[in-house]
Amino acid sequence: MRTLIFDTDIGVDDAFALAFAARTQRLLGITTVFGNVAVGQAVKNARLFCEKMQIDVPIYRGCSRPLALTPSEPAKLHGEDGLGDAFVNPYSDIAPGAVQFIIDSVRAQPHEITLVAIGPLTNIASAINQAPDIIPLVKELVIMGGAFGTDGHSGNVTPFAEFNIWKDPHAADQVLSSALNVVVIPLDVTHNVLISSEEVHQLNQPVLSAIVRPFLAYSLQKEGFDGMALHDTLAIAWLCQPEAFRLVQSPLRVITEGIACGQTVRKIGPLASREDPFHHLPTQRIALGVDAALVRNRFLCTLSDRNGSPP
Ligand code: BDR
Ligand code: CA
Repeated sequence: MRTLIFDTDIGVDDAFALAFAARTQRLLGITTVFGNVAVGQAVKNARLFCEKMQIDVPIYRGCSRPLALTPSEPAKLHGEDGLGDAFVNPYSDIAPGAVQFIIDSVRAQPHEITLVAIGPLTNIASAINQAPDIIPLVKELVIMGGAFGTDGHSGNVTPFAEFNIWKDPHAADQVLSSALNVVVIPLDVTHNVLISSEEVHQLNQPVLSAIVRPFLAYSLQKEGFDGMALHDTLAIAWLCQPEAFRLVQSPLRVITEGIACGQTVRKIGPLASREDPFHHLPTQRIALGVDAALVRNRFLCTLSDRNGSPP
């Protein structure tokens, strides 16, 4: 069990990941960021979801816009409010600062805190820019984001870019080329771990069943699949079952402009080019393969309170 700061632009799959994390890890705080929704809505969503799921953890408000780009529209597949428009949300969007919380927590517990980032990387980039001393003190940073083209899993916003990276490519480039101890969980693996709508409802989790509707409808309409990719949950699955993942290691960069803006690129072998955009960059771990059955089984058992076989 790890001590986590859970950094999220909380939409539907983020909420599934949070429910899984609350049952398998020690949550120190939830830091919110713009992305699937505006940051104020993310604060409200985190409060609502935690209250409904009886998750007792402090919530912080993070960055409201990308480091350099003009803000883009929130995602629509999570519903207007990001949580499937399932509940009236009475909560305030005011909360203490997320970036300072990350910095203070890592300094207070050096080498103990794992950061899980499942939205744009703006809070993490801001934290390491303001306090570079925390870089070697973070135990691990687990990112759901990026796409490397394995089995045709390239971008989900453009043909090149995955949503979380595309939302703030400058932040992502800073984080992925930093000396943080990073593991990246990209679409290459998250698109391979699917659960059907029937399996979602069989979890017997009324809150999850209520929020998931637009997400399932989008998946059915877009991909012809009556179910969902677990996406953000895979970042928590990495903590629970690292043996389920096949990793490669390489330096990483993110394209920050042009038609491929938001594309994640990794150095593969020696370069024949004159210029080396990876010069002196640390190697990061990237998951390109996953044992989907193992991950699905653990997730379904944990969320349905069963030890052993899923519902
Ligand atoms: C990512 O995009 C978001 O909409 C999801 O919450 C997930 O973090 C998948 O590309
Ligand atoms: Ca997310």
